[in-house]
Amino acid sequence: MFERISETRTLVTIYVDGRPVHARQGDTVAAALMSLKSPQVYRLSQVNGRPRAPYCMIGHCHECLVEIEGQANQQGCLVEVADGMRIRRQLGRAEVEI
Ligand code: FES
Repeated sequence: MFERISETRTLVTIYVDGRPVHARQGDTVAAALMSLKSPQVYRLSQVNGRPRAPYCMIGHCHECLVEIEGQANQQGCLVEVADGMRIRRQLGRAEVEI
């Protein structure tokens, strides 16, 4: 759905689930992950296990939660990528007592 227009910013390398990928300096983590063709699933809902993806890109919806440098539940749309940054998608599902 989203495509970059002309791009001249410097490339940085980030690690997504341990895999090195390129991002553009100044991108947010959410934008960088959404620009990848794979993985398609950004995170899984802790409540029902359904796939989720960034929605608002301004810090309101919390659909962009990822682990950044070992810190879980970081809002990917509010954090700029940095060279060497390690990001993990949150694919675990919490056990919910009903
Ligand atoms: S995309 Fe909505 S809070 Fe990050």
